Amino acid sequence: MTSQSQKDPLVSRRGFLSVTWAVALLALFAQAGHALFKFLRPRVEPGAFGGQVIAGRVAEFAAGSVNHVQKGRFYISHTEDGGLLALWHRCTHLGCTVPWNEEQGVFLCPCHSSAFSTTGEVLGGPAPRPMDLFPIKIVDEQVVVDTSTPIERSKYDPGQGIKV
Ligand code: FES
Repeated sequence: MTSQSQKDPLVSRRGFLSVTWAVALLALFAQAGHALFKFLRPRVEPGAFGGQVIAGRVAEFAAGSVNHVQKGRFYISHTEDGGLLALWHRCTHLGCTVPWNEEQGVFLCPCHSSAFSTTGEVLGGPAPRPMDLFPIKIVDEQVVVDTSTPIERSKYDPGQGIKV
């Protein structure tokens, strides 16, 4: 003869299967969510655009010079007032890459002829604002530029550069 407790186990088979299925589905969704997050998250190579880029040693940027740092997509401009600016090479009109014109001493956009000064200010053309800046700092005599956070501005101010 069997007792009542043997007929009604503490956890029924149906209950056990329900919990198992719920845990398995939860694990599946968590794994899929993690994979999707990793796939969609922008990949930033160390030292490349989108992260911290070492432009070079401070001494490499002579007064009045403009140097392109291709891996960071910016120019280091050593302005007349003694500051270093990191100017994003992207035109503020429609986003073309703006080359430096050494002869004329200006940035000249090939798309619609916007011109920018060495401080990135608009000299002519349809560009609505100066070239965007990246935050810049000096670490162990190296110029380090944070390309993750471009800064829009309406005009140049000497406080925007870092004094060297
Ligand atoms: S994209 Fe540079 S002027 Fe239009």
